Amino acid sequence: MGSIGFDTKEALDRAKKRVDRLSETLGRTPTASVVTFGCQMNARDSEKLEGILESAGFEIIESEDADFLIFNTCTVRENADNRLFGRLGRVSAAKRSNPWMKLAVCGCMMQENVNVERIKKSYPFVDLIFGTHNIFTFPALLDAVYADENSGHMLIDLWDGTDRIVEDLPIRRKYAFKSGVNIMFGCNNFCSYCIVPYVRGRERSRRPEEILDEVKRLAADGVSEVMLLGQNVNSYGKGTDCGIAFPELLERVSGIDGIRRVRFMTSHPKDMSDDLIEVIAAHDNISRHIHLPLQSGSDRILARMNRGYDRERYLDLALRIKDRVRDAALTTDIIIGFPGETAEDVDLTIDVVKQAGFQNAFTFIYSKRTGTPAASFEDQVDPALAREGFDRLLKVVQETAAAETAKLAGTEGEALVESVNADDKALVTGRLSNNMLVHFPGDASMIGDYVRVRLTDPHGFYYIGKRIENT
Ligand code: SAH
Ligand code: SF4
Ligand code: F3S
Repeated sequence: MGSIGFDTKEALDRAKKRVDRLSETLGRTPTASVVTFGCQMNARDSEKLEGILESAGFEIIESEDADFLIFNTCTVRENADNRLFGRLGRVSAAKRSNPWMKLAVCGCMMQENVNVERIKKSYPFVDLIFGTHNIFTFPALLDAVYADENSGHMLIDLWDGTDRIVEDLPIRRKYAFKSGVNIMFGCNNFCSYCIVPYVRGRERSRRPEEILDEVKRLAADGVSEVMLLGQNVNSYGKGTDCGIAFPELLERVSGIDGIRRVRFMTSHPKDMSDDLIEVIAAHDNISRHIHLPLQSGSDRILARMNRGYDRERYLDLALRIKDRVRDAALTTDIIIGFPGETAEDVDLTIDVVKQAGFQNAFTFIYSKRTGTPAASFEDQVDPALAREGFDRLLKVVQETAAAETAKLAGTEGEALVESVNADDKALVTGRLSNNMLVHFPGDASMIGDYVRVRLTDPHGFYYIGKRIENT
């Protein structure tokens, strides 16, 4: 644990000199781009990579023709892996036309040897590979990749794990008004289908004072919304001597001046406490959105998934949240086609979806991840059967979401304006406290503002609204 070390600072200075030289050679400022796959954790890591690249002298752009391109990968499902290999193939042409271009691949996929081997064999033009545990060594890797003796070689630096948490890396935030804040890293839950604990390592919590300081700095810098990030935020603090659990941390963050909204992700149902529900209920600036992954509504499947709760406990929790937190929106993740799942199990899942009244559900077809226990279960489900269950579930998810959305039609809410609408430039898109989107007339000058809106027309997963007044 600790702050950015002397080594990192020194490496950054060395990288800076390399970038200066490159700039002279090119006759312009070199560009860098980070392409992110996967979850909020990866998005936050990418902001750190961009911060380091920017500190080293690169201009950050969004283009796969950049002079330094990084793919920050995800391996949670097989289609995530395939997406990377498709993109890598295309970059080879860009590299041929720009001899100065460097290509790095990092993130969760690189923590699996099979992927690294495939890159070595089929994509030899990759210059640098590193993993999830050593992002803080990126300045040194950046320096090394430009050293003459490494030219044309693939540099690989992968760690099996780490108990270090390096604070104060440079960060380039994607948004001026909102930011993710890591509160913990890794996962100890070992759900039987999931690769995350293997590629992200054991659970480590940051010190509360580091988190609170970071949020204070963000607030001073104009950020009004923070999202506390962890694979299972409800187990924050376990195994440390910090003496505070997630509800208290959340309460303290919500008390920081300038923070108008606190979000958090993800809550594991097995560890969600009444204390947490009460803290959310008691503070208006804590988001009315709770993402509570169900995965399955069948007790038999939940047990085989190693989730640590059953349908009754889940439903009890969901209904308790709705009862205590007015206007709370529940969202969830569901996997269909887990080994051994039958049509009756899918029926049980659909039944929970109906009873819990999800605002939205992210539905996934089970993807076999080598190295996880479920990958060696013998009763893998026929893909056609899984697809059938998936389609049945999706229909109910859409109906339930539309019904939940309709419930708030005509009411007022406060929206944080995030962007100009991509399809209709006369509209802006804002996010309500319960995470739902509302599109309403406005312009780019409103980005970052909190605006009172009336939710006039519900449209399934979002609203069309009307501005009432600025707050
Ligand atoms: N830590 C979070 C989830 C991280 S992964 C949690 O516990 O909820 C995000 C989602 O991907 C999971 O909730 C799960 O629904 C899905 N997922 C994970 N592994 C999967 C697999 N092997 N196949 C299909 N979906 C998977
Ligand atoms: Fe994966 Fe389970 Fe950990 Fe979530 S809690 S990251 S699903 S092992
Ligand atoms: Fe993917 Fe890694 Fe996140 S596997 S979902 S990017 S933790």
